[in-house]
Amino acid sequence: MDTMGKLFFLTATLTIVLFNSTTAATSPIQHFLNCLPHSLVSEVTYTPNNASFSTILNMKIQNKRFKTATTPKPLAIITAKDDSHIQETIKCAKSNNIQIRIRSGGHDYEGFSYVSDVPFIILDMFHLNSVDINLQESTAWVESGATLGKIYYNIANKSNKLAFPSGVCFTLGAGGHFSGGGYGNLMRKFGLSVDNIIDAKMVDVKGNILDRKSMGEDLFWAIRGGGGASFGVILSWKLQLVPVTPQVIVFDVKRNVSEGATDIVYKWQLIAPKLHKDLFIRAQPNVVQIGQEGKKVVQISFIGQFLGKIERLLTLMNKEFPELGLNKSDCFSMPWINSTLFWYGEPIGTPLEVLLDEPKDPQPLYQKNKSDYVKKPIPREALESIWKLMIEGENFLMQWNPYGGRMEEILPSETPFSHRAGNLFLIQYLNIWSNESSEVSERHVNFSRSFFEFMTPYVSTSPREAFLNYRDADIGANHPSNVTRFDIAKTYGSKFFKGNFERLVSVKTKVDPQNFFRYEQSIPTRSL
Ligand SMILES: Cc1cc2nc3c(=O)[nH]c(=O)nc-3n(C[C@H](O)[C@H](O)[C@H](O)COP(=O)(O)OP(=O)(O)OC[C@H]3O[C@@H](n4cnc5c(N)ncnc54)[C@H](O)[C@@H]3O)c2cc1C
Ligand SMILES: *[C@@H]1O[C@H](CO)[C@@H](O)[C@H](O)[C@H]1NC(C)=O
Ligand SMILES: *[C@@H]1O[C@H](CO)[C@@H](O)[C@H](O)[C@H]1NC(C)=O
Ligand SMILES: *[C@@H]1O[C@H](CO)[C@@H](O)[C@H](O)[C@H]1NC(C)=O
Ligand SMILES: *[C@@H]1O[C@H](CO)[C@@H](O)[C@H](O)[C@H]1NC(C)=O
Ligand SMILES: *[C@@H]1O[C@H](CO)[C@@H](O)[C@H](O)[C@H]1NC(C)=O
Ligand SMILES: *[C@@H]1O[C@H](CO)[C@@H](O)[C@H](O)[C@H]1NC(C)=O
Ligand SMILES: *[C@@H]1O[C@H](CO)[C@@H](O)[C@H](O)[C@H]1NC(C)=O
Ligand SMILES: *[C@@H]1O[C@H](CO)[C@@H](O)[C@H](O)[C@H]1NC(C)=O
Ligand SMILES: *[C@@H]1O[C@H](CO)[C@@H](O)[C@H](O)[C@H]1NC(C)=O
Repeated sequence: MDTMGKLFFLTATLTIVLFNSTTAATSPIQHFLNCLPHSLVSEVTYTPNNASFSTILNMKIQNKRFKTATTPKPLAIITAKDDSHIQETIKCAKSNNIQIRIRSGGHDYEGFSYVSDVPFIILDMFHLNSVDINLQESTAWVESGATLGKIYYNIANKSNKLAFPSGVCFTLGAGGHFSGGGYGNLMRKFGLSVDNIIDAKMVDVKGNILDRKSMGEDLFWAIRGGGGASFGVILSWKLQLVPVTPQVIVFDVKRNVSEGATDIVYKWQLIAPKLHKDLFIRAQPNVVQIGQEGKKVVQISFIGQFLGKIERLLTLMNKEFPELGLNKSDCFSMPWINSTLFWYGEPIGTPLEVLLDEPKDPQPLYQKNKSDYVKKPIPREALESIWKLMIEGENFLMQWNPYGGRMEEILPSETPFSHRAGNLFLIQYLNIWSNESSEVSERHVNFSRSFFEFMTPYVSTSPREAFLNYRDADIGANHPSNVTRFDIAKTYGSKFFKGNFERLVSVKTKVDPQNFFRYEQSIPTRSL
């Protein structure tokens, strides 16, 4: 090499070295970390260099589909311990144009709280999990990171006559569950969680801490069912607790299709949404194997809850639904708090402290769920063909949750959750598998989609409605997730929110005009 050559080589090398160190020093994530107060970084921030990064990341991942080696990982996880940590995180993420994913319980079906297709950080809320019951007012302030189990446990620790209407799975987080509506087996009597939320605290895009009064009724409306992560970070909710009888009745009776269960299901469709509000009966079709050859048959579990005495329940059932043949020995009387364990499939006698457990399965299964709304009874012959197709699946089951009762009394515009009067029931399709091969995953996801296709004639149309909490990217999603296209957003938005979509867009445009809080299925701003 001649001198010129050497000089050139040296300059080039120097440039590369300089360039590399410059890009590293000025990468958005480095800027972001530098922007945060030092103590926030050293005490609550985990980057892939921290030994416990994976533990923290995986702790709340509920779906193995998003826990693989190829799943995109966050650049950092901020495990906020104080409201100010959230304000700082928003400020620094915004100024460095870094996408933020907010995670409370981590149960999002599509992993939107901890996965993104563009570089991102996670704001993890699990430390902020206090539950504060006010017995005089029958209210509770709960932080976003509190699980339903902790909320239920703390209510029952104060009173056996109070409850809160929300989901069955007690590891759900208050942050995501409530901001997506939140329903459970008290729905026919008291409506959704959001119908019983009377105040909230959140941090907006400017870093302001707002409550119901300072955020105003439009934003307070939007976060109760519109999905919190389009509008800001929910810190806590104020719940209006509801009265329950000291004992409730639960049952879980199973009927096989070969024993005439199709007729029982047909009748269930007609009466379950019209029964007395005190009674909620879910129908759960699944596939079981019988006999020595392991023949597959469809079996329906009718899982019920009654807010009253056993004699009244049996009288009611004999009158309205004798086809089920419910008798006294099928029924168990217990305090409401014990029933939350029963619904989760825990054996009777399970200690209530289980409600305080973290999700116990460190290796969750692969899963794909979808949802539908049914507005007119599915004909008998169609039910038969549905069972036939179910048997072709592997570990495929459904949950049919009846509406009616209180759900009919609340106007669809009262909260963003628009699926009120006129719905007989909500279907959830569940597909679960454990084989990690991508081909097997594809086969299961394909089956879910073709089953969904098959159901088209029997479910809602124009739009084909879907439940936000049963998140399903198949119905429309933005990729890359940092560009929110209005036409795509309108596709999923009209299915989730029907006529409420436009109002959500107006609120979004007002409170987050730069669309900082965005993800695959967020509410778009109205283009000006
Ligand atoms: C096993 C299981 C059982 C379920 N049972 C029911 C049921 O009975 N009834 C029902 O209605 N649903 C049910 N769901 C669905 C559940 O309600 C949703 O998945 C819900 O979003 C979970 O909330 P999360 O906080 O646990 O989830 P996350 O994954 O943490 O969050 C879900 C969404 O909310 C956003 N979010 C989370 N926290 C905040 C916050 N503090 N501020 C703003 N945005 C936030 C996230 O960014 C994400 O978009 C169930 C889900 C599972 C996995
Ligand atoms: C993560 O690692 C950095 C660098 O070693 C350290 O300063 C910080 O305290 C660690 N974070 C936590 C939350 O322990
Ligand atoms: C599907 O729904 C069931 C019941 O709510 C739940 O246990 C499961 O975790 C859900 N699957 C996904 C994709 O999270
Ligand atoms: C979205 O993210 C990609 C990948 O990081 C980036 O190239 C692009 O500029 C981003 N777009 C916007 C609008 O931020
Ligand atoms: C339940 O209440 C008792 C008495 O008020 C209290 O000592 C106990 O700590 C409470 N349990 C929990 C888990 O909060
Ligand atoms: C119904 O299914 C169960 C399996 O859960 C089986 O034990 C029972 O024999 C079946 N009954 C009939 C009549 O097929
Ligand atoms: C009640 O139903 C169960 C099964 O559902 C049955 O075993 C029992 O014999 C029934 N009892 C009466 C009194 O009918
Ligand atoms: C309800 O749970 C409590 C506490 O674990 C237990 O003592 C009681 O026996 C349970 N009651 C029923 C009917 O399951
Ligand atoms: C997983 O599925 C693949 C492809 O179908 C199959 O070859 C493999 O044996 C399965 N693994 C297990 C553990 O069942
Ligand atoms: C899944 O469906 C797609 C599109 O129809 C098809 O190309 C693919 O072969 C299917 N995969 C499996 C494993 O069945």
